[in-house]
Amino acid sequence: MTDASQAGGFFSLAAPVSAKEPAMNAPEPVAVTAAAAAVARPMPHVMNTYGRLPIAISYGRGVWLWDTEGRRYLDGLGGIAVNTLGHAHPKLVPALQDQIGKIIHTSNYYEVPLQEQLAAKLCEISGLQAAFFCNSGLEANEAALKIARKYGHDRGIDRPEIIVYEKAFHGRSIATLSATGNPKVQAGFGPLVEGFVRVPLNDLAALETVARDNPNVVAVFLETIQGEGGINPSRWEYLQGLRALCDRQQWLLMLDEVQCGIGRTGKWFAHQWAGIVPDVMPLAKGLGSGVPIGAVVVGEKAVNVLGPGNHGTTFGGNPLAMRAGVETLRIMEEDDLIANAAKVGAALRSGLERELAEVPGVKEIRGAGLMLGIELDRPCGVLLGRAAQAGLMISVTADSVIRLVPALILSEAEAAQMVAILAPLVKAFLAEP
Ligand SMILES: Cc1ncc(COP(=O)(O)O)c(C=O)c1O
Repeated sequence: MTDASQAGGFFSLAAPVSAKEPAMNAPEPVAVTAAAAAVARPMPHVMNTYGRLPIAISYGRGVWLWDTEGRRYLDGLGGIAVNTLGHAHPKLVPALQDQIGKIIHTSNYYEVPLQEQLAAKLCEISGLQAAFFCNSGLEANEAALKIARKYGHDRGIDRPEIIVYEKAFHGRSIATLSATGNPKVQAGFGPLVEGFVRVPLNDLAALETVARDNPNVVAVFLETIQGEGGINPSRWEYLQGLRALCDRQQWLLMLDEVQCGIGRTGKWFAHQWAGIVPDVMPLAKGLGSGVPIGAVVVGEKAVNVLGPGNHGTTFGGNPLAMRAGVETLRIMEEDDLIANAAKVGAALRSGLERELAEVPGVKEIRGAGLMLGIELDRPCGVLLGRAAQAGLMISVTADSVIRLVPALILSEAEAAQMVAILAPLVKAFLAEP
């Protein structure tokens, strides 16, 4: 999320947000009270690692959020592509309550049958063979990086190298920030982890050069659609070329679907649009619909790389997170949410294009399904606060890209509301001297 300190003048107009009926059976919003403070209330005992908006969310229903002051927001952020089923989904809530009442956590000392249930489903929908469970996106990526290195060592390569991408984002651990292609994320944390070779996205010739010159490469690691880097899709023919190159070179193709996976683009996984299957696929975010979870799913080339003692985590694969994953995928199928993401995503995109494509200062509207970016010709972090003030949660990535990654339950009417709130804000912003 772009630093909220850029959101100057937040709530200075004190506009109450209209109180329309929420999409689901929600409690009545309380009356709108005084405007929130201009800056987020201090939390002196919490480390100061985030720029926050001065909003405390009290509860959510469907794609709607209410803050502690009673203001209501349409949620275009979805917890940063996390809340697949929206908030307080009527099928998910009782399932999680049931699980909490039975068992939340044991440990990986014992069998966890829900792990096998979720892993089997992930294999069925991905065409892969096995999963390792962890708790977040960066952990899933750490596991992928370890798999790549061990795969190299197993093949006699002592100093394995991994191809990574300009503008990539893979997380904030030392290894994943080293793989990330954003100097702002890396600044102050050197020395970075070695063993990465960086290339531009969608440039097969650059990869061919690395293949020719570097015998230590063992894997290619990229987001199928870059999220934090500004909603930058890999071209499908690029992914197909990459698959062929990895087969030829015996490299692992590792696709970070932490943000773009789990139905968001209108397929279970974004790479499925290209008709390919990766060797290693980190997942997180949307898989648990808000319950922290991560997974790395692997195919034949990688399935036997890690053995007992090579990797592990205390919390990973705990019954609560596994139940959240199982239920999320089940409800997505039952309610046809992948088709909904494609349909409503297309409606949202055409609404944005209708209102904004010709506006001077709008460079491009891009993405797939319910993962959309609107690139402006200037930094636009200020829109974060203005949108919230107008009753819409968004984010801004790569300084100048407005990002919409709402829940997959979004309706066409709610998508139209999103456009109706956002488009005038963008137009007014771009008209400023
Ligand atoms: C593509 C991608 N990979 C990895 C991560 C890191 O995930 P987490 O914040 O859960 O560690 C993110 C987070 O935004 C992401 O978008």
